[in-house]
Amino acid sequence: MDRQSGSYAFGEFDDTEYQRLIKQGSATWSFEREFLEWAGLKTGDRVADVACGPGVISRLMAEYVGDDGFVTGIDISNELLETAEAIKRENSAFERGSVYDLSDHREQYDFVYARLLFQHLERPWDAMRQIFSILKPGGRICVLDSDESVFGIFPPHGDLSSLIRESQALQAQRGGDRFVGGKLGYLLRGSGFEKVAPRIFVMTPENMGRDTFLDVVLKFRPQLFPAAVREEATERMQAIYDHALEHMTYGHNGSFVVKAVRPVPGPATRAKA
Ligand SMILES: C[S@@+](CC[C@H](N)C(=O)[O-])C[C@H]1O[C@@H](n2cnc3c(N)ncnc32)[C@H](O)[C@@H]1O
Repeated sequence: MDRQSGSYAFGEFDDTEYQRLIKQGSATWSFEREFLEWAGLKTGDRVADVACGPGVISRLMAEYVGDDGFVTGIDISNELLETAEAIKRENSAFERGSVYDLSDHREQYDFVYARLLFQHLERPWDAMRQIFSILKPGGRICVLDSDESVFGIFPPHGDLSSLIRESQALQAQRGGDRFVGGKLGYLLRGSGFEKVAPRIFVMTPENMGRDTFLDVVLKFRPQLFPAAVREEATERMQAIYDHALEHMTYGHNGSFVVKAVRPVPGPATRAKA
């Protein structure tokens, strides 16, 4: 596994994960558009979509910033970047790169979005400092990531909590953290950002549709299991999925959305520089 990508080894996953990413990208755009506006995204901005994956959100942001703006998508996976290239708008470009080395992008962006990246990273502090360095002073950031202290499907299948706990532990073994959402404010503040403000977005079967909700919150979990037991994990997930299709009356899955600003140096800091 490439340790740079922490718990996200796209090459090891099957097509289910690819389909899930695409679905997850577009399913919540109407909400995300509002988060991004709240975080300060504006028409004409130069934007970096850090860990852009298949570029679904990059494309939607490129539409949002319009022809006077530009979106650069950066990701470590060549396979995902191929999709991003295929669906891109003219005011966007994609390049392979790691969040651990963004030295070619210093102070280039008005706005950064990092969506569902930090839950996978072994070295979140190093990544956040790199992201800080690519924003112009005064530039704005929005980070969205999971926090499974807010998770439930009701009524629960008997195996639900075991499967969830096992998948969380397996992701942690790979260097990831499915509870990173609640730590994002600390990461941002400790990396030099100011005006750090969180909110929580809760996906439900009502706000994204029952099938999409279940796909997004369950389908990736078997991929985290070792190959020898992945089939068994897929069967367990499918039983939970089918139970939910028949019986679910409510479900929720939380993500933190945190905004912040890279400070503009004051006169004292400028004199020292
Ligand atoms: C769950 S996907 C999210 C993709 C996209 N942001 C979205 O929301 O659809 C996680 C992404 O992080 C990328 N990634 C993981 N480690 C990375 C790193 N060190 N540098 C850049 N991208 C990385 C993966 O290739 C993958 O595209």
